[in-house]
Amino acid sequence: MDQDFVGFDRQVFEQCLQNCRLGRPLHTFEQLDSTNSTLWQLIEQGASIGTTVIAAQQAAGRGQWGRQWHSLPGGLYLSVALITPEDSVLKNQAILAEQASLLTLSSAWGLATLLQAWGIPVTLKWPNDLLVAGRKLGGILTETRLHRGQISAAIVGIGLNWRNPVPETGINLQTILAGLPHCPLDSLERLAAIALQGIGQGYKHWQTVGTEGLITYYLPLLQNLGEHVSVQGQKGRVIGVTATGDLRVILEGEAQVEGSPEIHCGPGSIQLRTSL
Ligand code: BTN
Repeated sequence: MDQDFVGFDRQVFEQCLQNCRLGRPLHTFEQLDSTNSTLWQLIEQGASIGTTVIAAQQAAGRGQWGRQWHSLPGGLYLSVALITPEDSVLKNQAILAEQASLLTLSSAWGLATLLQAWGIPVTLKWPNDLLVAGRKLGGILTETRLHRGQISAAIVGIGLNWRNPVPETGINLQTILAGLPHCPLDSLERLAAIALQGIGQGYKHWQTVGTEGLITYYLPLLQNLGEHVSVQGQKGRVIGVTATGDLRVILEGEAQVEGSPEIHCGPGSIQLRTSL
């Protein structure tokens, strides 16, 4: 671990955070291997729900499917504890192992909804990508620990392109904001607070409206709805998301299996396009 992230103004962050339950206590670092890894270490030492880790850059940022998440200075690299072993026991709060993807979906929905309220036209690429104009603005990596078929600990890691350089398929918020008439999203501290509020609101929303309700809210933001896809050599079309967060694909044409034209694809089992 390195020293504190000196460019990050904790006072501004606190003001932006308002009454959000997440974001406290906050640990910031100039450089880490991965904010997710550091947060797991803190949880092993007894960290509570809401504990947050932010780094100015990561040497070994983790992405989905074991990919590396390039984490140059200027981006937001944040991880927050949503479920800890102690809180699961105390509140008898049971989220089943097979519902783990819904933590990603609820976070993606919450974050996209909040960014839209700030004037950023975010859509979602299933299951975890935030897009603007078909280009990747950020991604979410949820990691869990399981105990007897239930989630005993869960953290949500978010990488958002703030002012860091991005590849051609990506976009950062500075580019987006330059094209907007006026947007008060003015600092990395505010973006961090928005990310935490979005994750918190998404999780609370799921707990309030249930899984069916969450999916009903998630689908209108899903850019892939209606998209034509290829699954193991068969042609299909995306029609929704299941109660465990898998993608619902209806098989089309000759490949249609009689009586069961719908198949469900788990994360990693199907490659979707980034842009339409
Ligand atoms: C994706 O592949 O789209 C998900 C990327 C998630 C990256 C974030 S950056 C903060 C946190 N720490 C990590 O090592 N990964 C996540």
